[in-house]
Amino acid sequence: MQPLVLTRDPALLEDLARLAAGAGVRLDTRGDPVAALTAWSAAPLVLVGDDLLAEVAAVAPPPRPGVVVVSHAPPAEVFRHALDLRADAVVDLPDGESHLGSLLGDVEEAPGRGLVVGVLGGAGGAGASTLACALGQVGGWTAPALVVDTDPVGPGLDRLLGLDEEPGVRWDDLATSTGRLGSRSLREAVPRRDGVGVLTWSAGPATAPTLSTVRDVLAAAQRGHALVVLDVARQSGAVAVELMARCDLVLAVTPATVNGVASTLRLVQPMGDTSRIRLATRRGAVSRRDLEAATGVAVAFEVPEQRGLAEAVDLGLGPVRHRRTPLGRAVASFLAEAA
Ligand SMILES: Nc1ncnc2c1ncn2[C@@H]1O[C@H](COP(=O)(O)OP(=O)(O)O)[C@@H](O)[C@H]1O
Ligand SMILES: [Mg+2]
Repeated sequence: MQPLVLTRDPALLEDLARLAAGAGVRLDTRGDPVAALTAWSAAPLVLVGDDLLAEVAAVAPPPRPGVVVVSHAPPAEVFRHALDLRADAVVDLPDGESHLGSLLGDVEEAPGRGLVVGVLGGAGGAGASTLACALGQVGGWTAPALVVDTDPVGPGLDRLLGLDEEPGVRWDDLATSTGRLGSRSLREAVPRRDGVGVLTWSAGPATAPTLSTVRDVLAAAQRGHALVVLDVARQSGAVAVELMARCDLVLAVTPATVNGVASTLRLVQPMGDTSRIRLATRRGAVSRRDLEAATGVAVAFEVPEQRGLAEAVDLGLGPVRHRRTPLGRAVASFLAEAA
């Protein structure tokens, strides 16, 4: 959701465009107050140029917070119209630039609703972390994606994605920060490349985040990303329950083997409600039908065996080296259906 700007003054528009670029936001600019009414209430911030102020006041849009009048040299009548509009402030440019810049910088995208997919290993070493990263990589090609590492004793998903050398915020930093976490700040702060970001721990001993940190992070992640993938560690107790509760869909990676079925069953049986769980199967002799019958959970797709996966990861390319790999295609077609 973009700040709404109402002006036909090219000089004002130029100033606002520059400030918005500095704040990293895009503007919804309109020259017609009546047509702009459709965006008036929903916009996170409304900037009214003094050139259109009388026209806008005449339209009498519904009162709302976050209306700011912008002007290059406000004449007296600006204040009268600003009062009519119940504007929060009249900002005089260029003096008020830094104030306006910070107002623009505070603009949060409207609550988005990114798809949240959890990935669980049905059996140890089944390939859950690999699939989580593959989902993030493929998702990131079209819209911002975030892979969230929840396994403090795992190898670190930043390494799997080739982002371990990238600077950025990690769980350790979030645990000690206070205040509301912005969706944009989270998206821009984590290590990221080619549309996929990762939230994990710094090297060294890691402690699991508290439930309240997890809740805040997931809410911000979902607002700021089209896809959030959670690599859910099997042993993380209350945090795992919380994580799963927030998923639109949970993929349990299950080797299609007798052992794989047995351990997946042990995983899913205690979960009363399995309606959001699907199996992502790895190669094996057990048929899809038998897998579904034994576990009571439907198969979403088969995760192909990816040749050269370890090499791609070692090269820092992540599990999906490029689009046309079997893993890349399988994940892309799953995401296209899940979206
Ligand atoms: N689709 C795949 N094709 C080939 N090898 C894979 C695949 N998925 C995982 N692996 C390999 O299996 C091992 C375990 O994978 P990992 O994702 O760490 O499993 P988990 O997170 O379930 O413990 C790794 O060595 C990984 O390279
Ligand atoms: Mg793992």
